[in-house]
Parts: sequence; structure tokens; C-alpha cells
Amino acid sequence: MSSSHNTQSFAEPRARGVFTASVLSNDPLCPEHYLLCLGMENFPPTHPGQFINILCGKAVGRADRPTFISANEKGGPPAQPTDLSQPETAGRVPLLRRPFSLAGRRDMPAGTVELDILYRVVGAGSNWISEREIGDEVNILGPLGNGFETHNSKPLAVVIGGGTGIGPMIYLAESLSSADKDVKAFVGARSASALPLTEEQKGFFEITTDDGSLGQAGMVHEAFAQWLERGRTAEMAVYACGPEPMMKAVADICAPSGIECQLAMERHMACGMGVCQGCAIKVKTDEPPGWMFKLACKDGPVFNAGELLWE
Ligand SMILES: Cc1cc2nc3c(=O)[nH]c(=O)nc-3n(C[C@H](O)[C@H](O)[C@H](O)COP(=O)(O)OP(=O)(O)OC[C@H]3O[C@@H](n4cnc5c(N)ncnc54)[C@H](O)[C@@H]3O)c2cc1C
Ligand code: FES
Repeated sequence: MSSSHNTQSFAEPRARGVFTASVLSNDPLCPEHYLLCLGMENFPPTHPGQFINILCGKAVGRADRPTFISANEKGGPPAQPTDLSQPETAGRVPLLRRPFSLAGRRDMPAGTVELDILYRVVGAGSNWISEREIGDEVNILGPLGNGFETHNSKPLAVVIGGGTGIGPMIYLAESLSSADKDVKAFVGARSASALPLTEEQKGFFEITTDDGSLGQAGMVHEAFAQWLERGRTAEMAVYACGPEPMMKAVADICAPSGIECQLAMERHMACGMGVCQGCAIKVKTDEPPGWMFKLACKDGPVFNAGELLWE
């Protein structure tokens, strides 16, 4: 994404590395989502929209090149040559790191860093994370990807999150609010019981639920469109993360009015660092054939909505 002196660019080169974090808390927020808080001695600067890759098993070996052994081998011998009967190759324990967006960051007076991850248990990796207890070590790689860009020229920031996409929007809304920026924030979930917000956060967001069990009934992009119809109050930039149909709907609402819209595309990822080419995403170009591939992990996950080709 481009940057100017009037823009807070989240795309400049930054340090990243492998870190051993300690679980500070890991609590359910609702029946489907947990909030993991990781503490570590230090961590490079981060921006909302960036993510970390979590090794969902135990790492041994050099700190910067951890070797995977299965979660079932806690306290076991050092890494062994690959044995195809081991759990990680038999599919019960994930071999690849799993990407999770940052849902918050706190720099503590003692110099330590706390990172929040809001996650949903969907498979082996996220299940492994849900079983971590206070004091457990977790090996993370990050920060990865490019975050959202914010503009001094756009006094109002509209933040829209759906489902597990709510995590990065909490981080963005909190960062913008603490920088005294005007923020209008919307979140959507299937129902009240699937809304991953604390009671305090619920007061900050305009809430929609598909079944009407909390807040306005309907989809979060509909609430955004209705708010927009009631009167555009200021120059604004819109930021969204959630299911792709929701993000496309938000993009379609913004486009006719020329409203800037940035979307965090949480595509399936393997390496998370631009190596495996596994997260290609089509973007528009002026040159024939009119499109090219970018990498969601390295060039994104945040993209300007106008450059995306939806399929
Ligand atoms: C940049 C990025 C940020 C993300 N941030 C978050 C986050 O903050 N919180 C969160 O809960 N999840 C987030 N995800 C999704 C998360 O990475 C996956 O849910 C996780 O990798 C699943 O691992 P697993 O081993 O538990 O499940 P697996 O066994 O690997 O998969 C279980 C099911 O989830 C589906 N799945 C896996 N990855 C994705 C994906 N990226 N998008 C849609 N479906 C997927 C699989 O197709 C499968 O059906 C993010 C993904 C990306 C790429
Ligand atoms: S996940 Fe490997 S290149 Fe993007």
C-alpha cells in the first residue's frame, strides 16, 4: 500500500523474529471464541492488521529455527528424523504454523510486551491453543504482513468486524481511539452467544446479530449502509475484517461514493512470509490481462478494496 507524509504507513520494513511467549491468560469469551494473552520479554513494533504465526506444538532446537515435535511429546527427547507414523505427519497435530491476527498489544512499564489473540476453535491447531494453560510456553513468529493505513486527512475512521475478524478491529479501534481519532465501530455475529467481546467492549461497538438476539437484527454491512444513508458526517476511511462476503458487501457500499476502504483478507496461509506462494490473491492491473497475483501474507493481508478482483 502506498504511503505519504499525511499517512501513517503500516507498510514500512520492520523487524520480525521467532519468540517464546508465555501464556498469561486463555479464557473463553463466548462458547466459540477464546482470548489468548501472551507475554514476552520484547517484541518488534506492531500495527493493527498484522498477524503472528503460532507453532501449535512444542519447539526444540535453535531459538531462531525451531524444530517441530508433536504436542504429545512434551518433555520428550530432542527432534527425531521424520517418522511418517508420528502424529504431526498423521494429521492429528499441525505441522505448519497457524496465522492469527493481533487483537491487541500492551507495552508494559517493565519493558515486556503483551499480545492478545482472539480465536475460534476450528481444528487441531486452534484446539491445541485452547488447551494452553497459564505459564505454558508458545512459540510465535512475527509480526507478519502489512497492517491498516490511517490518514490524518480523514477525520473519521469506520471500523467493521465480523466473526473472528473482530479481533484485528478491536486492536485498530483501540489504537485509533487512544490517538484521539473519531471512530465509528460496527461488529456482527451470528447470535449474542457467538459474539467475542467483553462487556466493556460491547459498549463501544454498534452490534448486529443475524438472529436479532443482541443489537440490531441483520448483517453488519446492512447496519453500516443504513448509518451511511442517515448522513455522511465527515471524510472517512473504512476498515473491515471478517468473512469475505461481508467484506465484499462493505466494499460495494463504499465504492459508489468513493469512500476509501481497506480490507484484511485472512486467506489460507502456509508459510506466512511470501515463500510458499500458497496465498495468492488476484488484484487488478492496468496492463493486460488486467490482473496479477499478489501474496496475501506478504503484500497484505490488508488491501485497498478497489484493487481486489472478487471471484
Ligand atoms: C492473516 C490471517 C489472520 C487470521 N486471524 C485469525 C484470528 O484472529 N482468529 C481466528 O480465529 N482465526 C484467524 N485466522 C484463521 C486461522 O488461521 C485458522 O482458523 C487456523 O489456521 C485454523 O487452524 P486449525 O489447525 O485449528 O484448523 P484446520 O484443521 O487447519 O482447519 C479447520 C477448518 O478451518 C478452515 N480454515 C483454516 N484456515 C482458514 C482461513 N484462513 N480462512 C477460512 N477458513 C480457514 C479449514 O478450511 C478447515 O475447514 C486467520 C487467518 C489468516 C490467514
Ligand atoms: S503463505 Fe506462503 S507465500 Fe503466503
